[in-house]
Order: sequence, then structure tokens, then C-alpha cells
Amino acid sequence: MAAKRNILITGGAGFIGSHVVRLFVNNYPDYRIVNLDKLTYAGNLENLKDVESAPNYTFIRADICDYERMIAVFREYEIDGVIHLAAESHVDRSIKEPFTFARTNVMGTLSLLQAAKECWAGDYEGKLFYHISTDEVYGALDFNEELFTEQTKYAPHSPYSASKASSDHFVRAYHDTYGVPTIVTNCSNNYGPYQFPEKLIPLFINNIRKGRPLPVYGKGENVRDWLYVEDHARAIDTIFHKGKVAETYNIGGFNEWRNIDLVKVLVRTVDRQLGNEEGYSLPLITYVSDRLGHDARYAIDSSKLKSELGWEPSLQFEEGIEKTVRWYLENEAWLDNITSGAYERYYEEQYSNR
Ligand code: NAD
Ligand code: TYD
Repeated sequence: MAAKRNILITGGAGFIGSHVVRLFVNNYPDYRIVNLDKLTYAGNLENLKDVESAPNYTFIRADICDYERMIAVFREYEIDGVIHLAAESHVDRSIKEPFTFARTNVMGTLSLLQAAKECWAGDYEGKLFYHISTDEVYGALDFNEELFTEQTKYAPHSPYSASKASSDHFVRAYHDTYGVPTIVTNCSNNYGPYQFPEKLIPLFINNIRKGRPLPVYGKGENVRDWLYVEDHARAIDTIFHKGKVAETYNIGGFNEWRNIDLVKVLVRTVDRQLGNEEGYSLPLITYVSDRLGHDARYAIDSSKLKSELGWEPSLQFEEGIEKTVRWYLENEAWLDNITSGAYERYYEEQYSNR
């Protein structure tokens, strides 16, 4: 039986965080799982309906930048493990509002680290601060270059990746300076249920079902490495329990796709599942101006994680896309709620006096 633990998961109402919360609540009944989330536009408690009344689950609405509150949460729940996912996560938004990204991703991470350091007060036995980061900190690859490894130098380009790179450096600095036990992982693009529909895959599924244009940036030749979100959550579970302190692990799917090829797979899959004839929604593809500073290619080598901890992706991409499209088409109310902004108003009212 697993030892009792009190784990703070930040950003648990977001896309990846909700899968991590669900996995930990279901797999570790002896752990107390404290999900702390500010519920920004990207946070949605609907993502966690199935675990919200579990006895080992607690939700706290708070901003990770609120240092005094972080201290209070660490003390009240005797937190001994942190899985830190809370962040501003969308590159296009970071280009429009970089300050928000520096605030949450850099200052928010610093506030949590400092709270961990203060509350753990040098007693680091059984403690872990696990920081979830992105492969985008490594910059961009050429089309014929080798994959990102854990030794690749940081070279972020977007305000999003710059803020995540900075937070990664702070996490390592807290280990090297104060001895806080930390782990950092850098993962490739995730896809699957509950992803906010401003990211490529859910946005395009939603647009296809509504017959709206599919805005492909530039020529659609940029390459991303896609990983099914539950495989990422499984990797986080493995690393939280078996990872070595002060290490970095890359997590990826060995699954590179040019955007335009991926969009065509999405069109084919959604059309088939909706009963449309093949090619029906292809005319929705619309080439639009490129994203500023658009990174050409991300591709990650996760062989260290496989050889040292035995993790590898479990789902083939075709199967993952099939499941993902089916989930969005079967959960149209979730999509419609989010795209109408109704849920944000609901949470503002519900939590405004707390
Ligand atoms: P998301 O945008 O779906 O969710 C982020 C969550 O953080 C939301 O619930 C939001 O309410 C919360 N949040 C934002 N600011 C906060 C604050 N100041 N205080 C408390 N909570 C706050 O993001 P995601 O896609 O689930 O990504 C989660 C983490 O994984 C991020 O750290 C991201 O950088 C990293 N990551 C994401 C991907 C990906 O493909 N989505 C890939 C690699 C790494
Ligand atoms: P995104 O899901 O925003 O993830 P990231 O930028 O973090 O990789 O975008 C994935 C790819 O899809 C990226 O190359 C940008 C491209 N893209 C489009 O072509 N059109 C869109 O509307 C969006 C949101 C993304």
C-alpha cells in the first residue's frame, strides 16, 4: 500500500492538470489531492465532475502568485509533494499579453518555490517539487535536425516559452541553492479530451463541426510532436514516484506531424464520424498570416525516460485522434459552454465572495 501523502496539484482545472488530478485521485486513495487553481478562462471545474466528491479530493480557488496564501495552503494541508502545472499556456496569447505570462509563469512559480522552501524548512525527507514544463524552451529545430534531448541548450523564442524557460531555471536554482528536491520535465504538444478550444486540435474539431474556416498559419509546414494527454499524465505519475531528484526528463510521443497533414487527418476523421462524405470539409482549410516568430519544428527524444523509468507512449496516433474527435463530438455541450463564455460567468458568481 502506498504511503500517505498530501499532494498539491496546481492548475488541476486545466487541460493536462485535470487528467493528472483524475489519475491521482483514482489511483491513490490514501493520498490527499489538493487541486489549487485560479480558474482563469482556461480553468474549468466541469473537467473534474467525476472526481469532485471523492473523499481524498479538495479544491481551492487561489492564485499561485499570492505568496501568503500559498504558505497558508502548505501549512493547512501539510503538503509534502507539489506537481506544478498552473500556467498561462497559449503561445498566441503570450504574443498579445506577455506580462500576464511573466506574472503567472515566472512570479507564480517563484512564489510556490519560496513557499515550499519556507514550509519544508530544510526537512526535505519525502518531499518533492515537480515542475511541468514544455519542449518549447529548447527553441526550434530545422526540418533535418536531431531531436531535442535533455542536453539541448535552452533557446526560447516566444514570450510563452521564455516565461517557461525562466521558471525552469528558478526551479533548478532552488535545488542548487537551497537544496529543495526538484524535478523538471519538458513535454511535447498534448492532445485529447478537455483541451481549451483555442489550441489547434480542439479548435479545428469545433470549427469543422460548425462549418467554420480552419485558419492554418503560414503554409502549414510547421512540425509538432503530439502526445495523448493520458500518456503524459501516466508519465507524470511514474516520474513523481520514481524520478531522481534534480533530474530533467523529456516526454514526447516520437510522433511528428506537419500541421497541414494533421489538419487533413482531423477533417477526414470528423467528417467520417459525422457521416459526411469524404472531403466534405476540406474547403474549410484557409491559409492565414503566419504567427510571429513561429517555431518551425519541435521534436523530442524521450529515450531517457524509457530506459531509466520504463515509460513509453501507449497510444498510436490514429487511435488517439479517433478517441479525441469522438470525445469532442459526444461532448458538444462542454464545447458550447466554453465557447459561449457561460462557464466563466458561472464561476465568477460562485466564487466571487470567497
Ligand atoms: P491550461 O491552460 O489548459 O491550464 C492551465 C491551468 O492553470 C488553468 O486551469 C488555469 O486556471 C490555471 N492557472 C492559470 N494561471 C493561474 C494562476 N495564476 N494561479 C493558479 N492557477 C492558474 O494548460 P495545459 O495545457 O493544461 O498545461 C498545463 C501545464 O503543462 C503548463 O505548465 C504548460 O506549460 C505545460 N505543458 C503544456 C503542454 C500542452 O501541449 N498543453 C505541453 C507541455 C507542457
Ligand atoms: P498550438 O496548439 O497553439 O500549440 P503550440 O503553438 O504550443 O505548438 O499550435 C500547434 C501548431 O498549430 C502551431 O504550429 C501553430 C499552428 N496553429 C495554426 O496553424 N492555426 C491555429 O489556429 C492554431 C491555434 C495553431
